[in-house]
Amino acid sequence: MPTIVDIQNLRKSYAGGFEALKGVNLEIEQGEILALLGSNGAGKTTLISTICGITTATSGKVTVGGHDIKDDFRAARSMIGLVPQEINLEPFERVLNTVRFSRGLFGRPADEAVLEKILRQLSLWDKKDSQIRELSGGMKRRVLIAKALSHDPKVLFLDEPTAGVDVELRKDMWEIVAGLKASGVTIILTTHYIEEAEAIADRIGVIAKGELLLVEEKDALMARMGKKQLEVQLTEPITEVPLTLQSPDVELSADGRSLIYTYDTNAERTGITKLLSKVAESGLVLQDVATRQSSLEDIFVDLLKEDAA
Ligand SMILES: Nc1ncnc2c1ncn2[C@@H]1O[C@H](COP(=O)(O)OP(=O)(O)O)[C@@H](O)[C@H]1O
Ligand SMILES: [Mg+2]
Repeated sequence: MPTIVDIQNLRKSYAGGFEALKGVNLEIEQGEILALLGSNGAGKTTLISTICGITTATSGKVTVGGHDIKDDFRAARSMIGLVPQEINLEPFERVLNTVRFSRGLFGRPADEAVLEKILRQLSLWDKKDSQIRELSGGMKRRVLIAKALSHDPKVLFLDEPTAGVDVELRKDMWEIVAGLKASGVTIILTTHYIEEAEAIADRIGVIAKGELLLVEEKDALMARMGKKQLEVQLTEPITEVPLTLQSPDVELSADGRSLIYTYDTNAERTGITKLLSKVAESGLVLQDVATRQSSLEDIFVDLLKEDAA
C-alpha cells in the first residue's frame, strides 16, 4: 500500500525546553488502521497535534497525501479529520447543525446528502435535531467523529477515542472504526489499552517518552509477545546441540554453556518437561535454568507499570 502520511525525524520541544518528540519516523499506509500505543505523557497527543497543525514542530518533515504540512498546510489539512481527546462541543447546538458547521469551516460546499450519510453511518440520524447536551457521552463522541468526517477526509486521527468509556461503548467504537476503514478511510488512533490495539489495529506502534520504539504488523507482534525463552545452563560447555535435542526451537549459546529453548506461552504444552528430560538423557548436567521474556513484552510490562503509577 502507498504511504499516505510520511513523518520524518519529527521533533517537538515545548516552551521551557521539554522535548516531547525526539525524532519520530513513521510511514502510515493508505487504508490501514494504525494504533499508537503508549502511556500517559508518552507524546501521542503531541504527535497527532503536530501532524494536524495544532502545534508546530521544532524540526522534521511531515507530508499528508504528498502535501507538506508547513508549505502546503491547507491542502494537507483538508485531507485530515481529527477527533480530539477532549469533548469540546457547544451544549445548546443541535447535532446536524454542528456537523454542517464543521464542513463549512473547511470551505466545502453545503451538501445535505453527505451530512445524512455520515450521521447514518454513526447511528446519529435520529438524533440530528437533538441538542448536544441531551446526548449521552457515547453519542457525543460519535458527534465528534461526524464533525471530523464532515469534509470527507482521507485520514482520520482518533485521540484516545475510548479513554474512560465503558466496555460496551468501547466495542461500539471498535465497530465504528472498522466501518470507517471499510469505507476507505485511513485511521490512526492512540490508546493506552493493549487490548484495544489488539482488537482493531492492522499495525501497532509503541511510543514512550517521545520515541517510537517500534511499529509492526499486529499479528507478528502478538505472536512475538507470546514467546518466552528458557535458558538451560550446563556445568560443562558443549560444541553442538545433541542430536535428540536438535530442533528449530533449540539453540546453543555462543559460549557453549547454555541451551536456549524458545517456546510459546499461549500453547497448550510448552514442551519444557520433555526438553529437560531429553537434556538428562543426553548425559548433560544442569547447573541452572532461567527464563526470560522477549524484549517486546518487557516494553509492554513497562508501559503497564507506568500506567499503574
Ligand atoms: N503545551 C505543553 N507545554 C509543555 N509541555 C507539554 C505541553 N503539552 C504536553 N506537554 C508534555 O509533553 C509530554 C507528552 O504529552 P502528550 O503528547 O499529551 O502525551 P500523551 O498524549 O501520550 O499522554 C508530557 O510530558 C506533557 O506533560
Ligand atoms: Mg494524549
